[in-house]
Amino acid sequence: MAAKIIDGKMRAKEVREGLKNEVLALKSSGTIPKLSVILVGEDPASHIYVSNKEKACSEVGIASEIHRLPSNTREIDLMKLVAKLNDDKNVHGILVQLPLPDQISEENILNSILPNKDVDGLGAQNMGMLVKGEGDPFIPCTPQGIIDLIKTTGIEIKGKNAIVVGRSNIVGKPAAILLLGQHATVTICHSRTLNLKEIISKADILVAAIGKPRLITGDMIKEGAAVIDVGTTRTAKGWEGDVDFDSAKEKAGYLTPVPGGVGPMTIAMLLKNTIKAASKK
Ligand code: GUN
Repeated sequence: MAAKIIDGKMRAKEVREGLKNEVLALKSSGTIPKLSVILVGEDPASHIYVSNKEKACSEVGIASEIHRLPSNTREIDLMKLVAKLNDDKNVHGILVQLPLPDQISEENILNSILPNKDVDGLGAQNMGMLVKGEGDPFIPCTPQGIIDLIKTTGIEIKGKNAIVVGRSNIVGKPAAILLLGQHATVTICHSRTLNLKEIISKADILVAAIGKPRLITGDMIKEGAAVIDVGTTRTAKGWEGDVDFDSAKEKAGYLTPVPGGVGPMTIAMLLKNTIKAASKK
């Protein structure tokens, strides 16, 4: 039976509609939520992502500003800009677009963002709280969007075998922790995993976030599995996911498309986190 295609674009729109009301409520109490985005260098994909974030902010009524810095920016100068935004009472969320040029330590920069403005949730404090299950941290946007899509589609997570392919700090690791928090039995696979095919074939829920176009084909997927494709690689054929869509849709029970699956959810969750930051103030 062909898989049900999970429409991330539609769900993201629904989330944004709900957020508009929250922005109105904040504004009527005198707070204009504001996101500051820092983009260093010329990576074309990053420029597209950042423009999309700016558009999405304006659509729901969040103020935004983009700081575009040259690729030879020194770490100390980026630190100074982050410090300035940390001190700016009108800025509620700070996002440093990744990847950063080689001369800048991603770790130093992400950890220099005040935890209560770290709307990407990638700093050590928010990530540590997420792992420990403490308090109310900012949750990284893509994994948060994945869980939203799974839950709103009505897929049961509790007790299921969830396999996450990819161990990045942005997606794989936090996605695994969130699935664990929803009581899945979680396995993380990566580029060095032996017998990947055998492990993947056990997945009731499969999250593919390894950045290798079409690595996962229908023959590897368990009949009826929920397959969430986070891969977005630009190839000669356009944007491609980690999952071979045509063969996967014959085996999976649910499948996210690329584009139009997880991507729009990432931005919707960023808006949600920014409103949360402004509300906490
Ligand atoms: N680059 C690709 N995805 C992301 C993301 O979610 N956050 C940041 N800061 N950079 C990214």
